[in-house]
Amino acid sequence: MHHRSSCLITGASGLVGQSITQHFAAMTAAKDIHLILTASSSSRLNDSKDLPHTNRHRISTIACEILDENQWPYLFKSVQEKVGCPDLIIHAAGAFRWAPAHEFEFAEYSRLLKVNLEFPIALNQFFLPDMIQRNSGCLIHFGSIASVQSYPGGAAYCGSKFGLRGYCQSLFEDVREYNIKVCSILPGQISQREGTEAADKHAIELNDILKTIDFILSVGGSSCPTEIILQPQSSYYEKALRKSLTPLKS
Ligand SMILES: NC(=O)c1ccc[n+]([C@@H]2O[C@H](COP(=O)([O-])OP(=O)(O)OC[C@H]3O[C@@H](n4cnc5c(N)ncnc54)[C@H](OP(=O)(O)O)[C@@H]3O)[C@@H](O)[C@H]2O)c1
Repeated sequence: MHHRSSCLITGASGLVGQSITQHFAAMTAAKDIHLILTASSSSRLNDSKDLPHTNRHRISTIACEILDENQWPYLFKSVQEKVGCPDLIIHAAGAFRWAPAHEFEFAEYSRLLKVNLEFPIALNQFFLPDMIQRNSGCLIHFGSIASVQSYPGGAAYCGSKFGLRGYCQSLFEDVREYNIKVCSILPGQISQREGTEAADKHAIELNDILKTIDFILSVGGSSCPTEIILQPQSSYYEKALRKSLTPLKS
């Protein structure tokens, strides 16, 4: 990130969003970065404000319930009033639900599609004209391993995350000549416990998510890491499966 820049983080009250916020707060001690945090609840967002306020670090919070489309313009315009067009948008808002496809209420499909797919598109649409005119920008989207692999019970989630991946791939083709980076991080299960060594042996540590973001931000102007799949190094399911397999004897 530049010395003077702005970053909008959606889902900033969640596991990943909070961690990214704290990371930026810590790493930007020497930089003048305006962080704008959004999530549905202002109370949870305000918890994020209890960050170390080192020097020129600035944080704004704007609550927006994504399921209420009428609140979107307020969010977009408020961000614009605060920083103009953000240099970096991190899409970390997400909704998850697991059930057999035929048992999902259609409203549940709509909910996941709205949060995981429609909202990121609308947010990008609002700021892309300015990014194009400015000839710079970086959009980081949180997809999932469920953006590339389907599984039983994942119809709504996989549908929304596969869709987001397709959208991002196409968007990159359309804006790459304008020096806009369009990146997707596609993680498997992320550990819920922050900072504990090997907190959960079969999940990705949050610190690795942060390193992935640092990597994306460190890449120069000649390339764009469009998709990064992060698998947990060790898989509980794989191990269980291997145990149940009897080796073939010749
Ligand atoms: N955790 C994992 O293992 C994992 C694995 C792969 C991919 N991912 C993806 O990574 C991203 C972050 O995941 P996470 O674990 O941080 O999720 P999380 O802890 O459940 O947080 C979700 C965030 O999204 C916001 N959000 C959800 N519904 C919203 C709505 N209707 N309106 C406004 N904000 C809403 C939440 O805000 P409120 O609290 O205010 O509702 C919260 O800040 C998601 O896209 C997820 O699909 C996560």
